[in-house]
Amino acid sequence: MRVLGIESSCDETGVAVYDSDAGLLSHVLHSQIKLHSEYGGVVPELASRDHVRYLLPLIQQALDQADTSRAQLDGIAYTAGPGLIGALMVGASTGRGLAMALGIPALGVHHMEGHLLAPLLEDPAPSFPFLALLVSGGHTMIAQVGGIGRYRILGESLDDAAGEAFDKTAKMLGLGYPGGPILAKLAESDRTGIYDFPRPMVDRPGLDFSFSGLKTYTLNTWHEASKRPDADSRKADIARAFQDAVVDTLSIKCRRAVRQTGIKTLVVAGGVGANRQLRSQLHDMMQKEGGQVFYPRIEFCTDNGAMIAHVGCLRLQAGQHDPLIIQARARWPMEELEAV
Ligand code: KG4
Ligand code: ZN
Repeated sequence: MRVLGIESSCDETGVAVYDSDAGLLSHVLHSQIKLHSEYGGVVPELASRDHVRYLLPLIQQALDQADTSRAQLDGIAYTAGPGLIGALMVGASTGRGLAMALGIPALGVHHMEGHLLAPLLEDPAPSFPFLALLVSGGHTMIAQVGGIGRYRILGESLDDAAGEAFDKTAKMLGLGYPGGPILAKLAESDRTGIYDFPRPMVDRPGLDFSFSGLKTYTLNTWHEASKRPDADSRKADIARAFQDAVVDTLSIKCRRAVRQTGIKTLVVAGGVGANRQLRSQLHDMMQKEGGQVFYPRIEFCTDNGAMIAHVGCLRLQAGQHDPLIIQARARWPMEELEAV
């Protein structure tokens, strides 16, 4: 089965072609970073308009690169939520309309399920059951994954998502948009190690997270430091101390989940999964636990069409598809997904 996948939930237009036998045939991406950077964050209306501008040419490009004609497609998958509703509608209406014109099934895919299963695109791929740390701009959770659509959420963020905490902290430090990767880069520069930030909620039992207190702690520290003559180098120190605290906290909770469930396979997905320090620390932690960690390649940690084409193919193959309506949901709890 050959499936075209469309991602347009936020600030990236992604399109891919995935084949159940041959694997990923092509994937193309247009990032809106430049468009939004002068506003310091994503402007939803501009995002929607930009998806309109780029989606059709990207679909053609993805088909060309996959050496696939429209007639060779067996289905179309698009991100149906969660995300910015206007941005989602662009992918949903295009995907649904194209599928109707071609007389093939269409399926709305859950964006976070796309992230969650993205490590299955790699070789070697993890096998079920596994634990998944999902860390994106909108979500932070640890889930136990028994199969496709069989997700038990063991813990999640009570306030800011990890990526959101990165982005807001970066903004407070005057680092601009997109904050996460910029802050991470600054954190990688030399530092004196003068700051040590608290690891939120690690003393409490359970697997939930909270990052908003850490964000405030960072802001207060920066207020003090910014008055000093060495403010610039302090900023890098603060970025590093913040990143250390987030990464440590995620790692401690993942270790706890491994010990609680006895599952020794960990999958890391979502934009913050691109963070090098997180990747290496989780790798070391899982080795000590006698387990293994799996990641998507860096470009498939952040939003992309490949993960949507992939999940779409798995579910369409199982016979699932949507009726002749255009579906998009800004909010969509992952527990509502049907098992395959
Ligand atoms: O998964 P994603 O592309 O979009 C959502 O579904 O939210 O995740 C984007 C998030 C943003 O908050 C971004 O700042 C963060 O992932 N991010 C990073 C890094 N790269 C992206 N955070 C920390 N370190 C990075 N290297
Ligand atoms: Zn995402």
